[in-house]
Amino acid sequence: MPGPSPAAFAYQLLCRGGLRRLHQLQLEGRARYGPLWKASFGPVLTVHVADAGLVEQVLRQEGPCPVRSHLSSWKDYRAWRGHACGLLTAEGEEWQRMRSLLGRHLLRPRAAEAYAGALEAVVADLLRRLQRQRDRHPQQLVPDVATEFYKFGLEGISSVLFGSRLGCLEPEVPQDTETFIRAVNTMFGTTLLTMAMPRFLHRLFPKPWRTFCDAWDYMFAFAKDHVDRRVAEAAERLDGTCLTYHLAREKVPVKVIYGNVTELLLAGVDTISSTLSWSLYELSRHPDVQAALHREVSAALGDGRGPSAAQLARMPLLKAVVKETLRLYPVIPGNARVISDRDILLGDYLIPRKTLITLCHYATSRDARLFPAPDAFRPERWLSRQPGHHPFASLPFGVGKRSCVGRRVAELEIHLALAQILQRFEVKPEPGGRPVRPMTRTLLVPETDINLRFLSR
Ligand code: HEM
Repeated sequence: MPGPSPAAFAYQLLCRGGLRRLHQLQLEGRARYGPLWKASFGPVLTVHVADAGLVEQVLRQEGPCPVRSHLSSWKDYRAWRGHACGLLTAEGEEWQRMRSLLGRHLLRPRAAEAYAGALEAVVADLLRRLQRQRDRHPQQLVPDVATEFYKFGLEGISSVLFGSRLGCLEPEVPQDTETFIRAVNTMFGTTLLTMAMPRFLHRLFPKPWRTFCDAWDYMFAFAKDHVDRRVAEAAERLDGTCLTYHLAREKVPVKVIYGNVTELLLAGVDTISSTLSWSLYELSRHPDVQAALHREVSAALGDGRGPSAAQLARMPLLKAVVKETLRLYPVIPGNARVISDRDILLGDYLIPRKTLITLCHYATSRDARLFPAPDAFRPERWLSRQPGHHPFASLPFGVGKRSCVGRRVAELEIHLALAQILQRFEVKPEPGGRPVRPMTRTLLVPETDINLRFLSR
């Protein structure tokens, strides 16, 4: 199998800002070596897969308890501190048990709709906050919208998990929530480095590992504090729909609740923020699409409040805008699988069991053979009645047993927020603003601030 030499790969990763450009390296790797190539870093060999048909072959052979990666500094941290794993990091039977429980409370359509009321209240606060922020600026500009949407993401997921509010969208943001958001960013910022460094190097160069662990310590402590309060309340009350109550009532051990709540909190911050930031960035640069979407939202909502789940069903362009945004900027640009129990056939190659397989989602979703003009923002691609795209070309939430358990909540949150923002504001680019590119920080995030004008309609 073709691929760079270990020295060339190490140079690309460590010396040319490669960790921040990992998504770009997928495109360069495919152009140079074709859709399948191997690369070694230290003792780790990984096979990169950058073709939708081959990604499908991997995922169809993943088995009943898919494993993302054994190579995880996230798992090392939990083992070191004696914390329980949450759904993101658990494996085997432990994962299967939690997956079926959380799936019941998050993934079923009715289950996600139960959180709509709480999320609508959070969206109303977001609109008030955007209004306040832009009123402070002479050009009605909200600088660095991603920071506003981090707060929205944390407030939204907390309302689902705890059924109460943190106050992240109030004029005075509580200090602990800002520290939590910083800890999430720091943890993602140090994940790839701590994963790429062999463990013995942690002792020689302790700073990245220490920074990474401090961030996790804060997130676990934050989650524990909130869970303890909700578990105490759940013992006294029989009502309440928040997820922590459900877990407490189903007698999930409290340590397992801490592990899961920590991971769900962090899963709900950057994902929501990046998707909303990029959606509005692209809409501000495509006023025709924004106008069409505003017409669609207004027609579905009339003058009333909302939107309800039924009204969202009448907004195909809204959904297409989010799909197209996630095609161009998949929050998880590269995922992984390890198939442990057997060798698998992939294209013309037999891949030995336990090989780390990197799924290059950024490259497949910008594949010109599948998406003409792949770098252009064209939501209408998702509306046409032509034969559809390859079903494994753009997989922003993954697919199958290990796919995103928060997908329905995330989509509900993003659709509600976008519909309401466009009802209230016309969103325009910052005058003279430069194009913003994506960067990999484990997740795909904006490299520089996205500043947008919010003009009242
Ligand atoms: C735009 C928003 C989001 C995107 C694009 C996204 C994407 C993903 C992806 C690609 C995966 C990995 C799937 C795989 O390995 O096949 C994943 C897993 C996961 N996501 Fe999300 N996510 C989003 C929001 C959320 C939210 C809001 C939550 C929390 C409610 C969440 C919770 C999780 C969890 C717990 C997993 C691990 C599932 C498992 O291993 O069984 N995600 N997500």
